[in-house]
Amino acid sequence: MKTTQYVARQPDESGFIDYPEAEHQVWNTLITRQLKLLEGRACQEYLDGIEQLGLPHDRIPQLDEINRVLQAATGWRVARVPALIPFQTFFELLASQQFPVATFIRTPEELDYLQEPDIFHEIFGHCPLLTNPWFAEFTHTYGKLGLQASKEERVYLARLYWMTIEFGLTETSQGRRIYGGGILSSPKETLYSLSEEPVHQAFDPLEAMRTPYRIDILQPVYFVLPELKRLFDLAHEDIMALVRQATQLGLHAPRFPPKAA
Ligand SMILES: [Fe+2]
Repeated sequence: MKTTQYVARQPDESGFIDYPEAEHQVWNTLITRQLKLLEGRACQEYLDGIEQLGLPHDRIPQLDEINRVLQAATGWRVARVPALIPFQTFFELLASQQFPVATFIRTPEELDYLQEPDIFHEIFGHCPLLTNPWFAEFTHTYGKLGLQASKEERVYLARLYWMTIEFGLTETSQGRRIYGGGILSSPKETLYSLSEEPVHQAFDPLEAMRTPYRIDILQPVYFVLPELKRLFDLAHEDIMALVRQATQLGLHAPRFPPKAA
């Protein structure tokens, strides 16, 4: 497993996590900036989720507050995890409708980009859409499949996750919008992903699984759903058959330079 400078904060006996004031400030900076940017850029289902969650602006929310809303909406909850978790744990959590949240927030030095998913990314990026039944169903199915998959199959599944839940775009009646949490929690990628610069490809799960990615750059290609409900339909298709097909066909050539050693 990779290493990280971050350590997740532990709760007290009552389950309350006490973050220092400077960390609440980081949350405030991030949420204020990002909410402004997402108007007209995030899909409506995400914005509806933001409204339902009623996230505080002046402090990092407690996980219980998120759970109350998610449980009522779709039966999901968030689970407190360390800064980095193994794939096995990740799939076990998703398969039981729990979304992992590492209880640490990025330092001011890494305000714009960090490799580890922090609490802002997980809660602001992913939790609003977990109030949506289509998105919740797809994420649940994904977890159950991943739990049963082999190590090799998981690599293909990981690409599907990356091209949807993390970096997905969708067409809507108002135009092209963002639903991927990796984009929604990044100011730079919010603007870039909808610009003319990257490639926008009509969503095809087989193609998504065959498309290599790097986690440390702006994505060169984004897959665009015809509508968000496509994720729900996909959850009821034979995703593992697509994994086997993708394994046979192999990967596309990357649209990015190799990572410097
Ligand atoms: Fe994420």
